[in-house]
Amino acid sequence: MKGVILAGGLGTRLYPLTKVMNKHLLPVYDKPMIFYPIETLITAGIRDILIVTGGNHAGDFLRLIGNGRDFGLQHVNYTYQEGEGGIAEALGLARYFCDQEKVVVILGDNIIEKNIVQAVKEFAGQPSGAKLLLKEVEDPERFGVAELEGPRIKKIVEKPKAPKSNLAVIGIYFYDPQVFEFIDSLEPSERGELEITDVNNMYLERSVLTYGVLEGWWTDAGTFDSLLRAGRLVAQTGANNL
Ligand code: G1P
Repeated sequence: MKGVILAGGLGTRLYPLTKVMNKHLLPVYDKPMIFYPIETLITAGIRDILIVTGGNHAGDFLRLIGNGRDFGLQHVNYTYQEGEGGIAEALGLARYFCDQEKVVVILGDNIIEKNIVQAVKEFAGQPSGAKLLLKEVEDPERFGVAELEGPRIKKIVEKPKAPKSNLAVIGIYFYDPQVFEFIDSLEPSERGELEITDVNNMYLERSVLTYGVLEGWWTDAGTFDSLLRAGRLVAQTGANNL
């Protein structure tokens, strides 16, 4: 299974922190933000990794991560997303890298306390389709939200004003190669982006979407409050624990 880390975008919600610095290079406690998703993949045994960067100073990623020697890797792949076309557009840039293999995709600002070892194992055994990870949150209106019907997901709504549950779809997604066909058929949303939630709903409509509920804490780090929260949580317990 391949691994893709999405670290593009302009990080406008963190302006002026992101006026010069790419969001994913900002510090979260004692490390640059991007180190956490890299470690999440490596902890789960994923070693063939593509980093999608974008925005200003994308070259800084190369200077910081290089070929991944500090993480025990021999090679890291990079590509560049122009502008802010959304998560699904950024993932589209990974088509040739994925080369008909399954892929785990992680947003560069998503940090977890524990690990995704079990989810990777389950998805490796899933014949086709996609898998999501959900987590109960206090502010579901900030995220993609899964509406459940019995044990199944009925619908996923992106940033609902009146959420039907408190289960956020976290930014760690598992896809089979069909994801690139779905991305090709997307239309931009109201915020002008290709939405990963639309892709997930396409899998849902075909009844090939599974999910797990993540153990341990999860946070994004793309707003002032969540960036602060991420630093506090990492300081308290560490991240990517086995
Ligand atoms: C994105 C996704 C959203 C998901 C979140 C997780 O939101 O669109 O569905 O719940 O990441 O971090 P964004 O950070 O682009 O607002």
